[in-house]
Amino acid sequence: IIIQHGFYNLLTSQVTLEVTEGNSTCIKAELSASFFITYDTANGTRTVMVPLPGSAVVGVASSCGGDGRSPWLVALFGDGHALGLGFSSNDSLYSVANLTLQYNLSDVSNFPEANSTDVVTVETTSVGMVARVNTTYRCISASPVIVGGATVTFSNVTMEAFMTGDDLSPNESVCTADQSFTTAPPPPPSTTTAAPTPVPTPPGTPSQGSYSVSNSNGTVCLLARMALQLNISHFSASQNQTIQEVVNLLPNQTTSSGSCDPTSATLVLTQGNATNLSFLFTLNSTSNRYHLTGLSVVAAWSDMTGPFNTSNSSLDYQRGSLGRSYMCISEQTLVVDQNFSLNTFQLQVQPFGITRGQFAQAEECQLDQDNMLIPIVVGAALAGLVLIVLIAYLIGRKRSHAGYQTI
Ligand SMILES: *[C@@H]1O[C@H](CO)[C@@H](O)[C@H](O)[C@H]1NC(C)=O
Ligand SMILES: *[C@@H]1O[C@H](CO)[C@@H](O)[C@H](O)[C@H]1NC(C)=O
Ligand SMILES: *[C@@H]1O[C@H](CO)[C@@H](O)[C@H](O)[C@H]1NC(C)=O
Ligand SMILES: *[C@@H]1O[C@H](CO)[C@@H](O)[C@H](O)[C@H]1NC(C)=O
Ligand SMILES: *[C@@H]1O[C@H](CO)[C@@H](O)[C@H](O)[C@H]1NC(C)=O
Ligand SMILES: *[C@@H]1O[C@H](CO)[C@@H](O)[C@H](O)[C@H]1NC(C)=O
Ligand SMILES: *[C@@H]1O[C@H](CO)[C@@H](O)[C@H](O)[C@H]1NC(C)=O
Ligand SMILES: *[C@@H]1O[C@H](CO)[C@@H](O)[C@H](O)[C@H]1NC(C)=O
Ligand SMILES: *[C@@H]1O[C@H](CO)[C@@H](O)[C@H](O)[C@H]1NC(C)=O
Ligand SMILES: *[C@@H]1O[C@H](CO)[C@@H](O)[C@H](O)[C@H]1NC(C)=O
Ligand SMILES: *[C@@H]1O[C@H](CO)[C@@H](O)[C@H](O)[C@H]1NC(C)=O
Ligand SMILES: *[C@@H]1O[C@H](CO)[C@@H](O)[C@H](O)[C@H]1NC(C)=O
Repeated sequence: IIIQHGFYNLLTSQVTLEVTEGNSTCIKAELSASFFITYDTANGTRTVMVPLPGSAVVGVASSCGGDGRSPWLVALFGDGHALGLGFSSNDSLYSVANLTLQYNLSDVSNFPEANSTDVVTVETTSVGMVARVNTTYRCISASPVIVGGATVTFSNVTMEAFMTGDDLSPNESVCTADQSFTTAPPPPPSTTTAAPTPVPTPPGTPSQGSYSVSNSNGTVCLLARMALQLNISHFSASQNQTIQEVVNLLPNQTTSSGSCDPTSATLVLTQGNATNLSFLFTLNSTSNRYHLTGLSVVAAWSDMTGPFNTSNSSLDYQRGSLGRSYMCISEQTLVVDQNFSLNTFQLQVQPFGITRGQFAQAEECQLDQDNMLIPIVVGAALAGLVLIVLIAYLIGRKRSHAGYQTI
């Protein structure tokens, strides 16, 4: 567990929240959370990462429910921000029925240059936290929840609602993302002398997948075709050391989801419980150009000692014009941080301005343009060579002709 802790974003702290009524506790939650929020500034949109601070407190709006109301946990933090979780249950299961995020755009320390001072509230009913009644819900893996223009990423969660005692139940409902981890530590390597570092064999070129995101009315608003390869530096459970692992995303096991707003679009690719990759594109409505500004990943691979989780929201890749798609057939490496980079191949994306569900004319990346030059140069060189041989032949023929005539 100590090793695992090193994998979590150090900006987020573990928070303990408890809702009590009278002398009894009905909800207890220990968790880390961070928020990825997109907002408007005078010159376009911006995305920030706001962690749930250790100073978060339980708000008075929290309740244990009863009288037809459902239990409600509200965590207040910073200058008027709040995270709310509503619970519901039946005889066998309880779940987080809805999640509400409230953020105060007047808070210039978290939302610099916001053009609004509103307090924004967004809500979702797709949270995906379910546990058996009388058990503690446990999810160490990072799990993202999309709510409006924000993404909430929870990690290290132990939580129980509808509690019958004052302490968390020793019986647990473990989330599916955690079930891919072996709970027992791996056996120590049997070697006595230091063996050379075995490097995992790199996978071949990944295969191309086609992904799309639709609006609430079913209109396709984002299209992507690409082959992806993740390159993560993590601590290997089997080798007891940090390794560089390169893994291809398998398109036939990957699903896409996301959201589209006028100036921002997200694409979330999920491969089973193992890999979750989110792309954030923003459109600058002044210049009518878009680019990839954010990438976040949650990976729970079999050889990891805990889930790997990182993101960067100040990237500048895949620059294209509104009404055009962006294309890069050549391999491109998108560096997210020192431990994670994404290799893309055979890529075409269009995050804005899709008409009739099809890609618009493509703008080719510089690498492709450079690579296109090579065949042209080689072709020209070959043509030149053929010409020289031909001329040499003709001259030679003429000479030998001339030779015959003299005889
Ligand atoms: C809380 O517990 C105290 C002592 O244990 C008891 O006197 C009090 O009545 C209880 N209050 C409620 C609301 O149950
Ligand atoms: C937005 O515009 C203001 C003034 O027009 C400028 O000071 C500021 O740097 C700009 N911000 C960005 C992110 O470009
Ligand atoms: C803030 O900027 C966005 C676009 O940048 C614009 O649509 C919105 O109306 C602006 N809001 C205010 C209150 O100025
Ligand atoms: C929002 O933030 C501003 C400035 O930080 C603060 O004055 C205001 O009280 C906050 N609003 C709420 C609802 O807390
Ligand atoms: C959240 O879900 C609970 C249970 O379904 C419901 O009672 C509550 O009104 C919901 N809250 C919001 C803000 O929709
Ligand atoms: C409880 O709800 C879950 C889904 O929310 C459902 O699958 C299950 O059958 C329900 N159990 C009972 C006893 O109603
Ligand atoms: C949960 O625990 C309470 C009190 O111990 C008990 O009355 C109830 O039947 C239990 N429910 C389930 C589904 O085990
Ligand atoms: C892992 O390596 C460290 C030092 O490199 C060593 O102290 C530790 O015993 C090793 N653990 C296992 C399980 O081999
Ligand atoms: C669907 O919604 C988008 C904006 O959300 C709008 O531009 C488009 O016209 C709508 N299409 C239909 C068929 O209603
Ligand atoms: C993975 O990343 C490491 C460090 O950034 C780099 O040295 C290595 O070449 C990368 N491997 C691939 C296949 O991209
Ligand atoms: C997915 O594709 C790979 C090759 O790209 C293939 O080996 C594998 O059988 C496919 N799996 C399924 C479930 O279709
Ligand atoms: C949007 O584009 C304009 C013009 O190119 C530029 O001045 C401005 O800084 C850009 N805004 C952002 C948020 O990048």
